[in-house]
Amino acid sequence: MRRIIFASTNKSKFDEIFNHMRTYNIEIEFVKFESIEIQSNSLDEIAQQKARDAYQKIGRPLIVEDTGLFIDSLHGFPGPYSSYVLGTIGNQGILDLLLNRTSRVALFRSIVAYMDDKCNKVFSGDTRGTIGDRITKGGWGYDPIFIPDDSSVTYGQMGITNKIAISHRTKALNNFAKWYRENYLGVHR
Ligand code: IMP
Repeated sequence: MRRIIFASTNKSKFDEIFNHMRTYNIEIEFVKFESIEIQSNSLDEIAQQKARDAYQKIGRPLIVEDTGLFIDSLHGFPGPYSSYVLGTIGNQGILDLLLNRTSRVALFRSIVAYMDDKCNKVFSGDTRGTIGDRITKGGWGYDPIFIPDDSSVTYGQMGITNKIAISHRTKALNNFAKWYRENYLGVHR
């Protein structure tokens, strides 16, 4: 099994990633890494820069991951500022902003950036859904207010196994894993 580092401060993300990547014969090792995030409207740029910083410090093949929640009726807010917004106005603040809005459509986007001595490449995954009208139990981050399409419950309520099956992060990881297997493990499928 090939070992790749996941550089992050977020253990909840690692818990979602670890078992899934083993299905691709990739073993993920968690290394706690805190970066100073650049300010940018582009998640790709933020993730690529984070990967560079992490690689400079750790010096082994690694992935980093960045997520943004993009809400249609708020013109994509909070997007790349999702972490700051969750830490300030929180899920209740998002619900308050959506009061009286007709659309509650939203999109979770994950960017996975891989870096080693040869390349720095990004992969993305999207899951569409809506913002619920209350904060539900379970999950972390925005999980308690995000209802993916084709579900009647939030990411938080559906439990980790069901979330992993459809999540934005899983989709980005699948794209990464397929590329990695083709280019590094010689698997063409
Ligand atoms: P980051 O990728 O850690 O910068 O994530 C930005 C913000 O989105 C943070 O506040 C996270 O808690 C939140 N977030 C990231 N991924 C998820 C997820 O899968 N579910 C819910 N919230 C998430």
